[in-house]
Amino acid sequence: MGKGKRAHTISIPSINLTTPKSSSDHSFSVSPPTFIQKNSLSTTTTTTINATSDTTQSALTLNDNGTWQKQSTTHWSPPRKTRRYDDLEHKLEVAPLYVLVSTYLNYFVLILFGHLRDILGKFFKPHAYSHLRMNQVSMQKTSRRTGLTELYGITRDMHLSSLTLTHSTPGDSMYEFGKATSNLMIHCCSVSLIDIVSYSLRDCWNRPITGVASRTVKLLERVSYDFNRTFRLTGKVTETLNFASYNYLGFAQKSGPCADAVEQATLINGIPSPSPRAEVGTTQLHIDLERLVARFVGKEDAMVVSMGFATNSTTIPALVGKGCLIISDEMNHSSIVFGARLSGAAVRVFKHNNMDDLKELLREVISQGQPRTHRPWKKILVIVEGLYSMEGTVVNLPEIVKLKSEFKFYLYVDEAHSIGALGENGGGVCDFFGIDASEVDILMGTFTKSFGAAGGYIAGDKAVIDHLRIHNHGYIYAEPMSIPVAQQVMTSMKIICGEDGTDDGRLRIKRLAENSLHFAARLRALGFIVYGDHGSPVVPLLLFNPAKIPAFSRELLKRGIAVCVVGYPATPIITSRARFCLSASHTREDIDRAVDTISEVGDLLLLKVSQEPK
Ligand SMILES: Cc1ncc(COP(=O)(O)O)c(C=O)c1O
Repeated sequence: MGKGKRAHTISIPSINLTTPKSSSDHSFSVSPPTFIQKNSLSTTTTTTINATSDTTQSALTLNDNGTWQKQSTTHWSPPRKTRRYDDLEHKLEVAPLYVLVSTYLNYFVLILFGHLRDILGKFFKPHAYSHLRMNQVSMQKTSRRTGLTELYGITRDMHLSSLTLTHSTPGDSMYEFGKATSNLMIHCCSVSLIDIVSYSLRDCWNRPITGVASRTVKLLERVSYDFNRTFRLTGKVTETLNFASYNYLGFAQKSGPCADAVEQATLINGIPSPSPRAEVGTTQLHIDLERLVARFVGKEDAMVVSMGFATNSTTIPALVGKGCLIISDEMNHSSIVFGARLSGAAVRVFKHNNMDDLKELLREVISQGQPRTHRPWKKILVIVEGLYSMEGTVVNLPEIVKLKSEFKFYLYVDEAHSIGALGENGGGVCDFFGIDASEVDILMGTFTKSFGAAGGYIAGDKAVIDHLRIHNHGYIYAEPMSIPVAQQVMTSMKIICGEDGTDDGRLRIKRLAENSLHFAARLRALGFIVYGDHGSPVVPLLLFNPAKIPAFSRELLKRGIAVCVVGYPATPIITSRARFCLSASHTREDIDRAVDTISEVGDLLLLKVSQEPK
């Protein structure tokens, strides 16, 4: 059946959850984000708590004279500053040819060396290399029992798709060559190669730390006497500047209002997790937190789950299933990939943040319908992230919202990295682009990054959240979020909204934005190839050659800077990188010191290869 023929016969089915007929159907307060209320009301509020009644439309506020007063919510919202994605997009720079060639050569040498080691090892040291045979035998045995090979195959396919993704522009033959070579390389990788690479880099990961990882981090020094197979702690502690933690707003602190509130809440309520939420595990703090989250992101209702990963992986299967279609950005987090697979829905992937590709795909899937039967999809759910932490790209939300009104799909945005970190009010991508939260059906986020806590939330229409409360396994069966964690989220979120009566939250948001822009601009001016859209608090700096991954990390550590380095398979094989995570807790001096140090190491490792005009 031709594409055009089906196109006009297809209707996008609606989510089969009961949608409220009027706002009065909702049994609890529906109010705009707190920061919007704040702008509209000149109050002397210092603390706000929500009324506990399920039917109230009001919140209780503590006046200066110490009395609680009812404050009704208002739906007035100030004119929002709208932004276009084009204004902040930073086009990915293609590396010079000699860098690409040397990187591929580097991998070829590693692969050859690895195979040579495998062959000679099996011949001359059969005992030491027996694990190679063992692996094959045990893998086959296990796969017969559990279907692990299929799983393994799936994982590898995932990597393959992440390799074939990215930076190829039509006619860019070097990247076409790169794609083919990458695939070939994966098939050529020897066990020894993996050994060589993983052991030689091991000291750059899982570094033990002590204390709170905030502006600085205390590393426990360790040494290895067997080429990084095992490590021994020396007992020495070194304090380094921390660019490796997602502590965007600097709430990872052991003192201050959050720590005080957490201590107080724990003294009063303990750390209970008596049973799952759906049984008797719900406390008033959970209810208050969910209401606060809903107000903060501008949705009717929200639910919190004790783990960010599980928030995605258990919510997606509760929203879609067989006969539905998930359209997912190729760079989406593994929790989304996992949830999509668990759901049983068909999954199609579009090129990272590429709106032309998404539009093309939407046209195709809607016109063709389900495979074989060509029936219309029951639901189409497009899943994207607000801020992609590996690339530093901000989702092109304005364009996706336009596509949504044209193609009528459901939109799910994972704000793990964008909530708190993006937007004038820290309200995430909707706030950042000045788009009303009602344009996004499901807003998901985690508390591990900007809030210095743990867990995740799902926010949406009340009907959807009610549905999830009885269908989401992470909510029904998992332990509830513990009291100290819930209190940490509550207090930090109130600070961000300004409900603590200070401008601390605003200052943090502003400082993070300034730090991010200043840091990326200085690195680009120095000649590094830096990914990430303007304003992204994650700044990836390209290293390319695999040998430079550990070298960069170690050289920076020697100079007192902790950074996270990433290579294949977390990135495409050619674009190994260091990811700098900026924080509001960094001072301008910290940023300048870091840039000067990175510049010194960049000269040492020949990393300033950008050809863009300064
Ligand atoms: C986009 C995205 N979603 C979900 C998660 C899972 O969150 P958590 O680490 O809090 O479990 C992460 C983790 O980094 C993430 O980056």
